[in-house]
Amino acid sequence: MTRKYRITLLPGDGIGPEILAVTVDILKVVGKQLDIDFQFQEALIGGVAIDETGKPLPEATLKMCRDSDAVLLAAIGGYKWDNLPREQRPETGLLAIRAGLNLFANLRPATIIPQLIGASSLKPEIVAGVDIMVVRELTGGIYFGKPKGIFETETKEKRGVNTMAYTESEVDRIAKVAFETAQKRGGKLCSVDKANVLDVSQLWRDRVTLMGEKYSDVELSHLYVDNAAMQLVRAPKQFDTIVTGNLFGDILSDAAAMLTGSIGMLPSASLGLEKPGLFEPVHGSAPDIAGEDKANPLAQVLSAAMMLRYGLNEPKAAARLEKAVFEALAQGYRTGDIMSDGMKAVGCKAMGEVLLRILES
Ligand code: IPM
Ligand code: MG
Repeated sequence: MTRKYRITLLPGDGIGPEILAVTVDILKVVGKQLDIDFQFQEALIGGVAIDETGKPLPEATLKMCRDSDAVLLAAIGGYKWDNLPREQRPETGLLAIRAGLNLFANLRPATIIPQLIGASSLKPEIVAGVDIMVVRELTGGIYFGKPKGIFETETKEKRGVNTMAYTESEVDRIAKVAFETAQKRGGKLCSVDKANVLDVSQLWRDRVTLMGEKYSDVELSHLYVDNAAMQLVRAPKQFDTIVTGNLFGDILSDAAAMLTGSIGMLPSASLGLEKPGLFEPVHGSAPDIAGEDKANPLAQVLSAAMMLRYGLNEPKAAARLEKAVFEALAQGYRTGDIMSDGMKAVGCKAMGEVLLRILES
């Protein structure tokens, strides 16, 4: 029987519309093949939303997202909006949609793709076989804690304030996702904090340790964030699943992404307790190459695969997309960001055509 899913598309800014268009074509083909009826609807977020409505996340967009089974986001931001006040910045729209859909768990895989191992700035023997999942808390911590703002002191000096805070229940729910993720992967979970200095981290560590008692099949370890950053570039293969707070996760997931050498290849999933989840590439909107048909659409395609796997429970369709991506790389097709000697250079659209050909063969 046909499964029906309503998917909200958020193309956003920069290269967003180009990479999302390629991905939608691919989803349509896989849908036909596997009897899945995707109903696409599009909404505004980020800079384009600011230009058209004055707000980076219009109410109508949030409503449309809430009304759907999954949200597929491309990228937001660009030079044009960089100097607006914070409440009108594209990034604020991204934070608002995370909060508005209660997407507290952000899954960011950093997996070495054998064909692209040369793209890493680290030695091949250090990164070969790296397969890390960073589980980042996404709706709490210092990104959202109060008080926040720039205030004036008694001496009329300005003072900038943000607050890193986690409640027990916030730690528990992300820890649960992380333990369950680790169970499905290599059975190892490393919790990253700064418990030697921060009280909020001590609570984090206590709660994760307590939760660990329920998951005897997962080997739990703890690292301070500075050491974790060092270990990630020193010996990344020691990691399987990492769980950490919002800010540490932001930083460590970029470092983990760079192990693979190709941030243009990495997808992510942001999940709450219920649908819809939001799925987006880790890379940004690359305004410098927007509209030039140069963008790498593969992270967006892999984000659609994560949508199918984690958001819609369609693992078969997910595997088809992933297989097509690896096959395209195996056949030597490369966009500029991952190009190397002897490979076949293609643009965004042509890469999409290669994927379609592979899917239909
Ligand atoms: C990310 C980005 C965002 C974040 C920015 C664009 C708000 O860096 O998704 O990692 O800090 O969460
Ligand atoms: Mg980031």
